[in-house]
Amino acid sequence: MIKTFTLKSYKSKSLSGNITIPGDKSISIRAVIIASISYGNTKIFGLLESDDVKDTITALKFLGIEIRKTKVYFLVKGNGGVFSNNEKNLYFGNSGTASRLMCGVLCSRDVNIVIKGDYSLSNRPMQRIIDPLKKLGANLTTNTGKLPISIKKTKNIAPNTVTSKLGSAQVKSAVVLAALNIKGKTTFKEFSPSRNHTEIMLNYLGANIKVTKFKNYNKIVVVGPCVLKAQEIRVPGDFSSAAFLIVATLICSDSKVRIKNVGLNYFRVGLLEILKKMNAKIKVVKEYYVNGERVGDIEVESSKLIGICDDGKMSTRLIDEYPILFVAASFAKGNTIFRGLGELKVKESNRLDAMSKALSESGVKVEVKKNSIKIFGQKSHSGGIRINTFKDHRIAMAMIIFGLASKKPIKIDEMDMIFTSFPSFYNVLQKIGAKVEKIPK
Ligand code: S3P
Repeated sequence: MIKTFTLKSYKSKSLSGNITIPGDKSISIRAVIIASISYGNTKIFGLLESDDVKDTITALKFLGIEIRKTKVYFLVKGNGGVFSNNEKNLYFGNSGTASRLMCGVLCSRDVNIVIKGDYSLSNRPMQRIIDPLKKLGANLTTNTGKLPISIKKTKNIAPNTVTSKLGSAQVKSAVVLAALNIKGKTTFKEFSPSRNHTEIMLNYLGANIKVTKFKNYNKIVVVGPCVLKAQEIRVPGDFSSAAFLIVATLICSDSKVRIKNVGLNYFRVGLLEILKKMNAKIKVVKEYYVNGERVGDIEVESSKLIGICDDGKMSTRLIDEYPILFVAASFAKGNTIFRGLGELKVKESNRLDAMSKALSESGVKVEVKKNSIKIFGQKSHSGGIRINTFKDHRIAMAMIIFGLASKKPIKIDEMDMIFTSFPSFYNVLQKIGAKVEKIPK
């Protein structure tokens, strides 16, 4: 008989330890994709072995790329982006990043492919990549602006200038990856700068890519076709996973934790800036650079958080951290307002809705308006409920952390989706002394 388990968390204190966390999801997905279109063998160290990354690897293997796991690294045998076995469906599970980036890669290469995903991914907006890629002449069709997307070979591919106000690294990366195989100069102007892992990795691999900062936008110019020469890639720990441990340490009493080798890309660490404004005791130590990415250790200890009013100007730099930031705000002294949350509604779930439901059912007073939330902070909340996670990994993990500081335990409806980004979540929590338990569903 197959037993299915879920997680339950109990009030905890004295969290402590020196821990490492799994590799960054955004960088891992980029690493396997970009290694596949490079020339030569890439060794990837520290690759995140989560469902999103595994689905990306399966899709690339299906396209004829040889990818192998050794004891210490993943080996990707790149052939410059010649894909076989097309005329088929490619499945990307839950991964917005992999599906959108691969639309970019594939639309400028000679393939006929249909891109598909799971229920959640099939309900996420895709017009945001279709319009810019069509500006480059790509032949992409969808019936609804969502998956499935059909990509067809075309001779109309040509360089162009694409402008975006969205602040989406996935949109930017799709255009940049398409441009690698387009002859001439493609320009992407981003008015709300977003995570730049793609630019950093391509620059490291010798692509003809140049980023210029202007007063109110960044200009990224790619002159293709680009030849990428395989190099070793080292993936730092995922800041978005570290975020759960940071907030756990802040809200549990008598706690001090050090998280080692975490990626600290400027566009990812907005959470640290907001938490510091909320009076959090957090220090970054031992900084260094790996393949152009900033990395370091994060030291955090229990803190008396205070409420703040955030205008949302940094939202692109902390977009994935809002669920856990809402948890931190719940335990702060005073009220916190977060504005500019429009993009939060089109993630793996509508995270504004999902979190406001989860928190209010757990005893937190919240007020939600169109794109903002007001959270009434208190020292403690009742908890004691089963959370509907809407199959969203970040809702699941955020609410398990909530249960470490609420009066009664928190149980989540299911835990499987946590494997999309942080497979060792439960083990790492146990390691720092958090009271979490696997229970039958
Ligand atoms: C990601 C970009 C962000 C983020 C997602 C990962 C990436 O999405 O929310 O989890 O790896 O490029 P958007 O580009 O849609 O903002």
